[in-house]
Order: sequence, then structure tokens, then C-alpha cells
Amino acid sequence: MLVSATEMLKKAKAGHYAVGQFNINNLEWTKAILLTAQENNSPVILGVSEGAGKYMTGFKTVSAMVKAMIEELNITVPVALHLDHGTYEGSKKCIEAGFSSIMFDGSSLGIEENVEKTKEIVALAHSKGISVEAEVGAIGGEEDGVVGQGECADPDECKKIADLGIDMLAAGIGNIHGKYPANWAGLSFETLDAIQQKTGEMPLVLHGGTGIPEDMIKKAISLGVAKINVNTECQLSFADATRKYIEAGSDLQGKGFDPRKLLAPGFEAIKATVKEKMELFGSVNKA
Ligand code: 13P
Repeated sequence: MLVSATEMLKKAKAGHYAVGQFNINNLEWTKAILLTAQENNSPVILGVSEGAGKYMTGFKTVSAMVKAMIEELNITVPVALHLDHGTYEGSKKCIEAGFSSIMFDGSSLGIEENVEKTKEIVALAHSKGISVEAEVGAIGGEEDGVVGQGECADPDECKKIADLGIDMLAAGIGNIHGKYPANWAGLSFETLDAIQQKTGEMPLVLHGGTGIPEDMIKKAISLGVAKINVNTECQLSFADATRKYIEAGSDLQGKGFDPRKLLAPGFEAIKATVKEKMELFGSVNKA
């Protein structure tokens, strides 16, 4: 069932668990995540970056594929199709293409421009029942081979953006995308707590879910995080399983190069990673 992320996140917040956002790249990724959500009776959010959208030939293709797959696979758990780190133009395109949720990432803009653009996107998205995630404080990651430490958002700026009627807020609390550097300082729970104090019931989003120790994930959920994004970990498990399959010469043993066989171990690996995260985030049987 394709739905906006609003209700599932309200429920998660009230029930003290988090809904996983897993990014998709192709048909196999999408199918693996949808089936795992259904098997575990868990709500789920499919994340689509602008790059992945382009790779899949455009947001309209993604939207049509996800809607058809939900129907053909009889997926009855709540599924949100969400733009990840959208630009202003990308957000508008996804609203038109039939996404059920979008993230407008204005964190690289000044706070006033972030406020103005977020407000505009909220009005547009809400007129169509689409949920909106906004961001304050850039979430770091690897750039040109250098891994930056994650920023911490200003709680007052978070309140300014939260008051615009958004449905979920991503705020930097020292988290970064991709692998964490060995000298990573960890999540700033002080910042998270201050942000939640200022923003009341707003479901908070934790980006960079790959590689955060389990105890920190649990503490973040206890302090108000209701959505956790995972991307790199699925990529790593997919790549590892595919590499092992090829190294074992498996695709050469009389089976030819059937792509369905070649991609099968990676598909199973994504399913296992997603299941593990759903259990950790507490969303199993919460559909
Ligand atoms: P990771 O790639 O670190 O899991 O982060 C995913 C993410 O936050 C997508 O927005």
C-alpha cells in the first residue's frame, strides 16, 4: 500500500521505534526491500536519491515501477516512496511524478532561504497529500576522498524549520553518510535532546544509518528518532555477495551468465540486511 510517511512516523514516534528508509537503485533492490517489509509485517520507506532516479531513467519510471510492484507482489504493509536529499527542482519533479513523500534538502542554503523554499515545497506537497522531510545542518560524508566529521544543527534553526508544518526533520547530530572514520566522535545526544525539546513531537530523522553502533541507534530512538536511513550497508552486502559468487566461479558452472542467477546472492544479501535493520529499529510487526 503506497502511503505518505506521515502516519507511519507518528505511530513510530508514539511506539518508540523507527521506520527504516532503504535506498533503491534498481528493480532487484526494490523487490528485495518490499518483500522483506511484507515478510516482517513492517512499514518501510523506499529512498530515491536524485542520482539513483536518473540512473533508473527518471522519477516517473521509479514511481510507476514501485506502484506496479506493490500491486503485483500484493504488498499490504505501508510503503512510502520518498525522494532522498532533493533539490528544489527535484522535489517538484517527484511531486509531479507521484512520489508519496519527499525530502527537500535546503541545508546548504542560508537559514532564511531554507525556510522560504521549504515553506513553498510544504504547501505544494501537502496539497497532494505528500509528506515532507526538511534538513537543518549538513550531514557530512566523503567528499574527494576526505571524510568530514558530521555537523551539529542549531536547535533554534531546527525549530524554525519544524514550525513550517513539515512531517519529519533531519538534523545533523554528528552523523555522516557512508563509513564512519576511525576517529569519529559519535552521535551528539546532547544536540539531539536539545532539538527534540525545541521541536516537541516532530519525528526526527537519522541519516547515515550505516555503521552506527547498535547502542547509539537505540539511544537515538529513545530520544525521538523515528526514521533511520540506510544505504551504504545494503550496497556493501550486495557487492560482497556478488563478488563471492563470481569468485567461486558460480556463474561459469554450466549456467551461463543468466543475470537472474548472478544477481540472486546480492538480492538475498539485501533482504538479510534489511531484516536485520528492521529488527534493530523495532519496526517488525508494526505495520
Ligand atoms: P548511509 O549510506 O550511511 O547508510 O546513509 C544513508 C542516508 O542517510 C541516505 O540519506
